Parts: sequence; structure tokens; C-alpha cells
Amino acid sequence: MATHLHRLLLLFLPSLLLFRRGTLPPPPPSPSAAVYPVVLVPGNTCSQLEARLTDAYEPPPESPQCGAGSNERGRWFRLWRNATAMDDPAVAPCLSDQLRVVYDPAARDFRNVPGVETRVLGFGSTAGFLADTEANNREHARADQPDLYLYGPAIHRDLCMRRLVEALQQAGYRDGETLFGAPYDFRQAPAARGQPCRAFGRFTRRLRALVERASRENGEKPVVLVSHSQGGYFALEFLNRSPLSWRRKYVKHYVMASTGPGGLLLPLRNLASTPGEAVEAPDALVALPSPVVFGAGTPPLVVTRDRNYTASDMSEFLTAIGVPPLGVTLYETRALPVQLGFRAPLVPTTCVNGVGLSTMKQLVYWDGNFSETPEVVYGDGDGLLPLASILALDTVIGSDPRQEYYKSIKLADTSHAGVVSDAAALKRVVDEILWSTPM
Ligand SMILES: *[C@@H]1O[C@H](CO)[C@@H](O)[C@H](O)[C@H]1NC(C)=O
Ligand SMILES: *[C@@H]1O[C@H](CO)[C@@H](O)[C@H](O)[C@H]1NC(C)=O
Ligand SMILES: *[C@@H]1O[C@H](CO)[C@@H](O)[C@H](O)[C@H]1NC(C)=O
Repeated sequence: MATHLHRLLLLFLPSLLLFRRGTLPPPPPSPSAAVYPVVLVPGNTCSQLEARLTDAYEPPPESPQCGAGSNERGRWFRLWRNATAMDDPAVAPCLSDQLRVVYDPAARDFRNVPGVETRVLGFGSTAGFLADTEANNREHARADQPDLYLYGPAIHRDLCMRRLVEALQQAGYRDGETLFGAPYDFRQAPAARGQPCRAFGRFTRRLRALVERASRENGEKPVVLVSHSQGGYFALEFLNRSPLSWRRKYVKHYVMASTGPGGLLLPLRNLASTPGEAVEAPDALVALPSPVVFGAGTPPLVVTRDRNYTASDMSEFLTAIGVPPLGVTLYETRALPVQLGFRAPLVPTTCVNGVGLSTMKQLVYWDGNFSETPEVVYGDGDGLLPLASILALDTVIGSDPRQEYYKSIKLADTSHAGVVSDAAALKRVVDEILWSTPM
């Protein structure tokens, strides 16, 4: 089975298991009407994608059935998230193949494999974040594909903003009226300025228009922008590439949940076992540990007998694990500048992060054989983001003298996904959106 789907599922789904609840603060009075319109940018794999095959599509040699039968060419069908397809051993390899993105040297950009057209479903609405068909809701931990369903569909739903959407609706928000969603092609990632990146360009244009519409339809009020996890890279890059006057006019408050400037170790470990994927995984390259937090002089991320690696040595590390030269170049030219550009958005910002859970902080490949399973050293964090990455928000955003309003909420014993799904955490996030939006 091709590995892209597998990687997507594993990249952002670990450690979501412990949601211990803190004591609840007293409930605030219910708002009579939504105050500011809210726009949500969800995490990795939380957007729905549709695909259409053209005559140019060539099925993988080992799965000649792909592109025939029920997927007749020219018809739009649900590519992600399609539990029926994931469940069907004859179709799952097709899904994996059609979900791939490849780098096109002529265009200097990533694109779908030839013959596959894709589109993001339901831009403007949060309905897709709830989307789980009947089939998705079925229990489908399959004995023959344990990896694929390691964490199960229920965890996937929690990872997305489903519960946050429900909580906002209970508070009076209405989808398409006061509550909006900005899904995106999560396989891609913002690329460095000056590097062609049609996917992010399209997202930027659509989000800008959506924010303006949300404001216009709500008495010219500015919006509250809320992101989770990978959505934070998209939202922050979007803000930082928008004119400051635009940001200040249209964004009342940015609430960034479960994102840190330091990246995470999981893509490091995943790439070590499947280095060839680097050229198909722009999202993983951006999520790698960043020199902003884990650079020279900090404890090594990877330890071997002969050589240690910090995030400042990432190119050497990628080469050492067998990433093709193109992958290293893509990291250096497209992903690294985005990591280094993580900076204060200069609109009122609240960061909400979980802490207190066991989180990967170092990988030991003592014999220098990166095909082996590393020994993992754990530290504090949200189960995915190491604590150092979370604390760095206070310096990278909080200490910027031009950042007038900054607040950081660190929720004890709360996981990466729990920040937008655990009941107590959710309450804090909703309170921030409703009540603490700076005047
Ligand atoms: C799910 O995928 C299968 C196989 O690719 C396809 O036939 C079906 O139409 C898809 N479901 C939807 C809702 O598009
Ligand atoms: C690698 O890092 C470890 C732990 O910080 C340290 O003990 C060791 O001396 C370092 N090894 C090399 C080769 O630099
Ligand atoms: C590295 O580890 C893999 C998996 O355990 C093994 O198959 C391979 O032979 C090892 N390579 C070397 C050079 O020892």
C-alpha cells in the first residue's frame, strides 16, 4: 500500500489519548447574539477534498483497477475523507495514489499526479469539519491494516474542530452567517515567498475574500480568526503576508491553538523510515523541528554514536537518512524560510496550548542506522509539540515590541487535540473567542 495516506494518518494523530479534566471556571452568562464573526482554520487532514480523474490518469502498475469502475473518469468524487474507500482493500491503494502530490520542476511547484484534479469542498462553511459519513462513523479497526486505523475514526473527528463548532453553535453562532470555515488542501503547505505555491495562493485569496464577506455581512465588524495545529501555519502566513492595515481592519483577535514555532519530531521520525516521501510531503517538511527553537546550542534532536543533529543540521540529517537531493533542496528553499518566518502577526493574539503530557523530544539511533526504530526520549509537551516549542511563543510573538496584545494560555494535562475537544479546554477557547476578544 502506498504510504502517503499512511503518513497523513500517522503524522498528526498520536498521543491523543489522555484528556484529564481541570476544574471548571464559573460559567459566564450566555451571549444573546454572536459578537464578532468567527472564521475557523482546522488542522491537518480535517478538510474534505474531491477529485476527478481525466484520461491522463495512469493507475499504479500494481493496482490496475484504479481509475476504472465506480470511479469513472470525469466524475467528481470524495477523495478525502472517504471511509468507504479506505475500508475497501481494492480501492484503498487507489486513494493513496490519487492523494499524492509530486514536485513539478518546470512549474517549481507541487501538483497532483497527472490525471487527478482536486478541489477543496465547502470553502466558507464549517460543515466539512463535522463531516463523517455513516461509513466513517462505523467502527473499522481492521486486523489486516492495523497501521491505517491505529487511532480510529473517533480520534480523527476529535482532532478536527467538530466539538469547537458545536460549542460555538451552542453559544449562538450560525454556520454561514456568523461562523465560517476555511478548509484547505492539507497535503500542501505555505512555501517561502518567491517560491511558486498555487495551493497556498488560492487559499490566501479565498480566505481574504471570506474574511471580508464575514465582516461585511456582520455590520462591518472585524473577525475572530481561530486556527488549530497545522491550520496555524496557514493562518499565520496568511496574516503575515497581508498588508498590516488590512489585518488591523479585519482581524479583531487571532486565537492560535496547538501551534508552536518549533515544529515537532514526528515528521523527523517518519521521514527517517521513509525518506523518499520527502519529495511528496511539503506539509511534513514545514512541520519539521525548526532552528528558531531547536537550533545550534540546544540539546540535540537526534543522537547517534558519531554525530548529533539539531534543527540547524537538518539538511545534513535529511541527507544522512537518505532523502534525495531534491528533497533537501525543497526543505531549504520552500520550508525552512517559512519556519524562520514564524513571527508575531501584529494583531491581538491569544495562543492556547496543552502541556504536561509525555512528548517526543529526542531520537536515539545509536548505531546510525536510520532504518531501525529509534529509542525515543520523552519530555513535556502536548503529546506532539515539545514544551520548548510552546514556550517559544512567548518570545517569538509575545516579546515583539510591535505585538500590542498577546496572551498565552497553557492548559495542564491537555493534549494537542484536546485543546479543541476536551470539555474544559474547549470552554477556555470559547471564552477567549466570546469574552476575551480585546476591545
Ligand atoms: C468514495 O470513493 C469511492 C472509490 O473511489 C467512490 O466510488 C465513491 O464515490 C466515493 N464516495 C463519495 C461520497 O464520493
Ligand atoms: C551527542 O549528544 C549527547 C547528549 O546531549 C552527548 O552526551 C554526546 O556527547 C553527543 N555526541 C556527540 C558525538 O557529539
Ligand atoms: C539497518 O537496520 C535495518 C532494519 O533493522 C536492517 O535491515 C539493515 O540491515 C541495517 N543496516 C545496516 C547497515 O546495518
